[in-house]
Amino acid sequence: MMNFELILVENQIRTGVALVRLNRPKDLNALNLLLMSELKQACKDLDAEPEVRCIVITGNEKAFAAGADIKQMAGKTPIDMWEADQFATWDQIKKTRKPIIAAVSGFALGGGCELAMLCDMIVASDTAQFGQPEIKIGTMPGAGGTQRLTRAIGKVKAMEMVLTGKFISAAEALAHGLVNKVVPAELYLEEALKLAAEVAAMSPVAVRLAKEAVNRVFETSLEEGLQFERKNFYLTFSSEDQKEGMAAFVEKRKPEFKGR
Ligand code: CAA
Repeated sequence: MMNFELILVENQIRTGVALVRLNRPKDLNALNLLLMSELKQACKDLDAEPEVRCIVITGNEKAFAAGADIKQMAGKTPIDMWEADQFATWDQIKKTRKPIIAAVSGFALGGGCELAMLCDMIVASDTAQFGQPEIKIGTMPGAGGTQRLTRAIGKVKAMEMVLTGKFISAAEALAHGLVNKVVPAELYLEEALKLAAEVAAMSPVAVRLAKEAVNRVFETSLEEGLQFERKNFYLTFSSEDQKEGMAAFVEKRKPEFKGR
């Protein structure tokens, strides 16, 4: 449906799920400016596509993504970095209102780990490895690694990963609450698509409002978060989907959500 150079987009209309594949396999899906800009555009387009209700981002078996493109960044000055403003695209992806699931196999390092954490859920293959190895090349995470990783797995473990560059396995990532589930390598994409289809079967209005409310937890106090949640909860009562969902429960049938 969309033509890009470094990503592939496939819309699985039957289940309401769009699959976005990072496609720079020779470079382990290193996230250069073009790839990130295409990813931003794809997320924006899919967010506006009514039949898409959930997005899955994946790489390939060997790498989800091995980080920002070191070769592209190596000689840059701070002003070059500031002018390129490469993280502005990340801010745009964060604004995607539909849920995004990362299907991770192999390396999810540096920006790759940060991209997975920018997503709403992570399904991992048992071969997945997560890490923030920027410290080994004389820099540090710049796209959320110090913030999202710490929120996800806690300070001491995040500190260890960020300060030593050590990778953690899929099993460790699961134990520390970084990923939703770990499955055998041949199943990770299928499982991610299955999870996405489950979300896609819900009311898109309620899903959007609920995602917004969960994310609010990182931005606000408990009291303000509770008030925000309550308003979004009340707002769902303006949708036909809420009426349909509750009527279907009473009538003991499956609801049919229309997204309005
Ligand atoms: N940027 C650019 N190219 C990369 C890359 C990256 N992040 N990661 C891998 N590649 C390229 C390699 O240069 C190599 O290309 P050539 O064949 O042209 O030499 C190709 O991908 C295959 O990589 P390797 O030969 O190194 O594969 P390997 O299996 O021996 O090792 C690896 C795999 C351990 C992941 C290793 O490639 C590696 O350490 N990559 C860098 C990881 C890293 O430091 N990521 C952080 C980047 S900085 C960042 O992300 C900042 C931020 O917060 C946004």
